[in-house]
Amino acid sequence: MSGSEDKITSLLSEGRVFDPPEEGRDQAWIKSMDQYRELYQRSMDDPEGFWAERAEELVTWDRKWDKVLEWDFTKPEIKWFEGGKLNVSYNCLDRHLTDGRRNKAAIIWQGEPEEDVKVYTYQMLHTEVCRFANVLKKKGVKKGDRVSIYLPMIPELAIALLACARIGAMHSVVFAGFSAVALQSRIQDCQAKVLITADAVLRAGKTIPLKPNADQALEDAPSVESCIVVQRAGNEVSMQEGRDSWWHEEIAADDITSECEPEIMDAEDTLFILYTSGSTGKPKGVVHTTGGYLTYAMHTCQWVFDLKDNDVYWCTADIGWITGHSYILYGPLGLGATSLMFEGVPSYPGPDRFWKIVEKFRVNIFYTAPTVIRALMREGEEPIKRWDLSSLRILGSVGEPINPEAWMWYYVNIGKSKLPIVDTWWQTETGGILISPLPYATPLKPGSATFPLPGVDAAIYTEEGKEAAPNEGGHLVIRKPWPGMLRGVFGDPERFKKTYFSRFENIYDPEDGARKDEEGYFWIMGRLDDVINVSGHRLGTAEIESALVSHPAVAEAAVVGMPHPVKGQAIYAYVTLTAAAQESDELLAELRQHVRKEIGPIATPEVIQWAPGLPKTRSGKIMRRILRKIAANDFGDFGDTSTLADPSVVDHLVEGKKKLG
Ligand code: WTA
Repeated sequence: MSGSEDKITSLLSEGRVFDPPEEGRDQAWIKSMDQYRELYQRSMDDPEGFWAERAEELVTWDRKWDKVLEWDFTKPEIKWFEGGKLNVSYNCLDRHLTDGRRNKAAIIWQGEPEEDVKVYTYQMLHTEVCRFANVLKKKGVKKGDRVSIYLPMIPELAIALLACARIGAMHSVVFAGFSAVALQSRIQDCQAKVLITADAVLRAGKTIPLKPNADQALEDAPSVESCIVVQRAGNEVSMQEGRDSWWHEEIAADDITSECEPEIMDAEDTLFILYTSGSTGKPKGVVHTTGGYLTYAMHTCQWVFDLKDNDVYWCTADIGWITGHSYILYGPLGLGATSLMFEGVPSYPGPDRFWKIVEKFRVNIFYTAPTVIRALMREGEEPIKRWDLSSLRILGSVGEPINPEAWMWYYVNIGKSKLPIVDTWWQTETGGILISPLPYATPLKPGSATFPLPGVDAAIYTEEGKEAAPNEGGHLVIRKPWPGMLRGVFGDPERFKKTYFSRFENIYDPEDGARKDEEGYFWIMGRLDDVINVSGHRLGTAEIESALVSHPAVAEAAVVGMPHPVKGQAIYAYVTLTAAAQESDELLAELRQHVRKEIGPIATPEVIQWAPGLPKTRSGKIMRRILRKIAANDFGDFGDTSTLADPSVVDHLVEGKKKLG
């Protein structure tokens, strides 16, 4: 918790409040704090009534549910809209063909090269999704089967997800920045039948081959019968006879039609699995269902972003993460909105790329991450001034706590000191936003995610399980279920229970620290478990440690987060070599490369420090608290070190760190 203390002090001293804009308020979905409070109260007094109303308003059901909610976190068991039947792709596509939106842009796709733009109307997207759904069926994919998807941010990614949803197959998207090893373990865990990938990723002007990673992953993934490859860059790839085929050839085949009946699913059937890092062991396959997830993604997208039919809405996340699932795809398309999808990066070809896109498509709602804001802050205001940002009406932030400085910069320079910023707190597990301002209602405090949304019973608990006093830091907890919450960890019910429902009785534990101020504003402080948040990406320290230890020169490794001005946190690794190995710069570079290969570039350690020994208790537990302090150059007070087996180890590490600077 050491690094977060400074953060808390700086947050505590924040006194500014920014009122919501008057303009646009009359047309807003939620117009005032009074309305928010009323809705919140209603949702707490009668959660089932509240959610049944939302589910009915937002979703088209083939059959209405028998029971709104059944739950018991002690088991844990969570069931929403049981007996209800629906299809998610029908809700995102078919119904918009007859509600006046048929020729409306569903997805505006901006490719990495400026001239690569594609617009898919709802009709066009429907056609593509049906055709690809038929391809999947032809490959033998049936309801309940798993399909792994390893693609860059190209339209086929959106099409593939919706096609799975159409036929009732579970998709499991693996971010294209992950390595072959990471892909393989995710395919093996969910036993995917099909893998969808591409020849390459276009990134910052470069072509990065992707298919070789897929090939390597498939060397030991016997569940995969077919691999469908999208041609994005046209680079040379090897295709394995009988297993691999091209997307464009598959969808053009004579027997593939543009019609595909949506599979009617139970509300509680799984829609997708998405892997995320935890504090121990391998990543968890977070399971989300059809009825509750769709209701929740749409509900939050509508209220938090005040999404309207005429808006151009842009979430800059990658569909490889939950943010892209819920707020590029399912939320906006469920609502029949126009969602912008961007293949490139904010810094290429210049630091004004985002603002150029905002002007080009007259974006109204812009949702990004604090790390992006901090990186762009460094470029100054000049890149912003080149473009007309007057179309913007709402700004959003997600992925990590936004520091007040970055918040202010975003507010002043992008928001022109008048646009609301919705700082949205949520997780892969929550399916959608839980704590956030409502743009036309909530007075904002920079750095605070403000209040729980209606239906979300959030509180701060002390270690002993009592509600914390105002401003007292503690565990953020959620005491009632919400429709978008995870229903399990794929194939591991024990881990599901242990990770999320074991700290406090009958309560969901997100493993985040937070405090609530005297006015009830929530201030999220960051992870309480051994998870590092690098540029908004969750990485388990245990995963990085085991990647390091799998190198023959490494005897032991301990990984902690260190404060980083742009990434929020960066990876700091302490490495103990085997007796036979020698410390050298070459080995340092090799270890970095090794972690990239095992997990992916995002997991590359920022700093590796040689550690002849690690600070351990007599029972062998590594005292990470000390390692975090050393990594942050905070040598003042290591607290109680009396339980250390060998206290001299600490002096040694401090010496080493001082030399590193
Ligand atoms: C952190 C991303 C503070 C938090 C949607 C959480 C945040 C983890 C915020 C989930 C925010 C996300 N303020 N912290 N607005 N948003 N976090 O699963 O620690 O990739 O537990 O989901 O990110 O990361 P995940």
